Amino acid sequence: MEVFQFKKELKNNITNLRRKGDIIGFVPTMGALHEGHRSLLRKCKNDNNISICSIFVNPNQFNNKNDLKNYPRNLEKDLHIIEAEKFDFVFCPSEMEMYPEPDKRVFDFGKLGEVMEGKHRPGHFNGVAQIVTKLFNDIKPGNAYFGEKDFQQLAIVKFLVRTLNLPVNIISCPIVREADGLAMSSRNLLLKPEERMNAPLISRTLFKAVEMQHEISVPLIIDWVIEQINLSPYLKVEYFEIVNDLNLQPINDWNEKCNKVGCIAVKTSTVRLIDNVRFG
Ligand code: PAJ
Repeated sequence: MEVFQFKKELKNNITNLRRKGDIIGFVPTMGALHEGHRSLLRKCKNDNNISICSIFVNPNQFNNKNDLKNYPRNLEKDLHIIEAEKFDFVFCPSEMEMYPEPDKRVFDFGKLGEVMEGKHRPGHFNGVAQIVTKLFNDIKPGNAYFGEKDFQQLAIVKFLVRTLNLPVNIISCPIVREADGLAMSSRNLLLKPEERMNAPLISRTLFKAVEMQHEISVPLIIDWVIEQINLSPYLKVEYFEIVNDLNLQPINDWNEKCNKVGCIAVKTSTVRLIDNVRFG
C-alpha cells in the first residue's frame, strides 16, 4: 500500500498501475476509522481492481470551529486498518493541497439541501460538495462508496453526480452499529461515559417507532420519539423527521406512496449524533 500527500504523485501512480479495463474504487473519509468505514473499504476492495481511500478532515464542511478542532484524528491506526483491507493507495492531503486557493463555489441542492442537516448546519453540504467534487476530479473513480449513516449526504452526492454528469457510480452501504445499537461514528469517541451509556436510547427508540408505525399517526409518532429520547438528561433531540427517501421531504401520512426514512439528530453536551431508520 502506498500513501500519498500530493495529488500529482497519486495521479502518476494510478496511471502507472492502471491497466485497460481496470476500475478504480474510492472510499472518501475523514479518518478515525471504525467498523462502519471498514464495511465500505471491504465492499470497495471486493468490487474493484484498484482501491483508494482518502483521509482528509475537510475544514470547509465544519460549520462549528470547536467541532473541527476536536474532531478525532488517528492517522497511524487508520493506515493500519486500510492496509489490512489490502488497499492499493491512501490519499491524505494537507489543507493547502486541497485548497491552494479558497474554494468559492456555491452549490444549489434545491429542496434536498433545505431540510434537516441542510437547515441545521448551514454551509455543511456546500463544503462536502466542494471536497467530493475535487476528490472525484483527482481520482476519477468508477465507483465511490458512501454510508447510509449520513443519509442526506448520500442523497446530496447522488444529486451532484446526476446534475453535473459525473462519470462515477455511487454505491450506498448500510449503517453499521455497535452491539447496543448505537450507529458507529468517529464522534462516538468524544462521548463522555454517561453520554455513551445513554446514546443507545436513540436507535432503540427509532426501532420501536418502526414497530409502532401504522398504529399511530405520523405526527404522533414523531412527537413520541422526541419525547422518549429527551427523557434522558444527557440527550436533546435537534430534529426528527420522517421523509420520502428520494426527495427528503417530510411525509404526513403512512399511506403516502414512497419509501420512508426517519432521520434524527441528537445533541449531547459534547457532540451531535445522527442516525436514521427505514420505515418501509
Ligand atoms: P466520514 O464521517 O469519515 O465518513 C466516511 C464514510 O463512511 C461516509 O460515506 C459515511 O456515511 C460512512 N460511514 C460513517 N459511519 C458509518 C456507519 N456507522 N455505517 C456505515 N457507513 C458509515 O462522511 C464523511 O466522512 C465526509 O463528509 C466525506 C464524505 C469524507 C467528505 O469530507
